[in-house]
Amino acid sequence: MKKIAIKSYGEPDDVVACVEAPDVGEPGADEVVFRTVAFPINPADISFIRGKYRLKPPLPATPGAECVGRISAVGSAVGAVRRGDLVINLDRENWAQERRVKADRVIVLPPDSDPLQSAMLRINPPTARLLLDDFVPLKEGDWIIQNAANSSVGHLVIAFAKRRRLRTINVVRNEEAFPALKELGADACLVDGDGLHQRAEAITGGAEVRLGIDAVAGAATARIAACLAPGATLCAYGSMSGDPITVPSSEMIYRDIRLRGFLLGRHLDRRGTDEVQRFYHDIENDLREAKFRIGIERLYPIENIREALAHALRSRSSGKILVTPNGPVG
Ligand SMILES: NC(=O)c1ccc[n+]([C@@H]2O[C@H](COP(=O)([O-])OP(=O)(O)OC[C@H]3O[C@@H](n4cnc5c(N)ncnc54)[C@H](OP(=O)(O)O)[C@@H]3O)[C@@H](O)[C@H]2O)c1
Repeated sequence: MKKIAIKSYGEPDDVVACVEAPDVGEPGADEVVFRTVAFPINPADISFIRGKYRLKPPLPATPGAECVGRISAVGSAVGAVRRGDLVINLDRENWAQERRVKADRVIVLPPDSDPLQSAMLRINPPTARLLLDDFVPLKEGDWIIQNAANSSVGHLVIAFAKRRRLRTINVVRNEEAFPALKELGADACLVDGDGLHQRAEAITGGAEVRLGIDAVAGAATARIAACLAPGATLCAYGSMSGDPITVPSSEMIYRDIRLRGFLLGRHLDRRGTDEVQRFYHDIENDLREAKFRIGIERLYPIENIREALAHALRSRSSGKILVTPNGPVG
């Protein structure tokens, strides 16, 4: 089978290769084997390849925080997963044609799930949901503000906020993103930069904004902080600028802005296995009911991984880059 391997940490174009690897073999009693249908390229995968992610396993290593697969073999003691099931895998190293994993680490999806959408279900949808659920009690009509609103997480935040009748101010780098965000249900859109606070206040009419969501870091975090009410929470979950967060101490001392961090794994670990399974089913159902689709810009075969990564590193207008390791998805 083919899989992606990195021999050293560095720039994707220099270190990533599609290599031949031994088949994964038969499943043990409590294991399943699946053929990978699709995986997306996420910013965290690129950080992993560069050696800048929190996990840095010994080399050679296989990236891939998420994927969707079709079960091809089931261990003798496995009851809840069947051959042919579409699954997402809660474990890593998914940039491969085939995976053998513990059966309780996969989540079986409804048979009519869209495989390409499901490839992007494990990370960003729960991230968006938990950013809204786990930090500040919010009620209908409340305002929240987020930057990187044009990201996949940003779109999902808008979708989930809309279902809860929360109002969103969406901060992006470029106003060309506005129409798509408005179509998703964004209440307001702003371009990041000077005077963000005053421009946000003009939108809310001075109503309190008690949750700020930041995926940019650097000076952008301070601009979100300035838009928040005293005592509000600013949750950092990404660092697209690559810069350290800089928030003036006055925001924390004078205005008691509470700087928090979000890491999906930590928030899922607080929940038991059954709760996590229910949580994913609930999210899948929510997105289906909302008819929400995560944007996909292009699909690549696994052999073209370098081309796919180069595309993922460019600014994209219509969504994620996906790889289909076992050929076109029917
Ligand atoms: N903490 C967690 O557990 C967790 C979980 C999921 C995701 N994340 C993080 O969430 C972030 C978004 O992930 P995603 O998969 O939704 O991303 P994505 O769909 O690939 O989109 C990336 C976004 O980042 C923006 N961007 C890139 N460079 C930027 C810069 N220098 N300044 C401002 N914006 C910039 C892009 O803006 P343009 O549209 O203008 O190009 C785009 O909207 C990433 O940082 C990711 O690591 C964290």
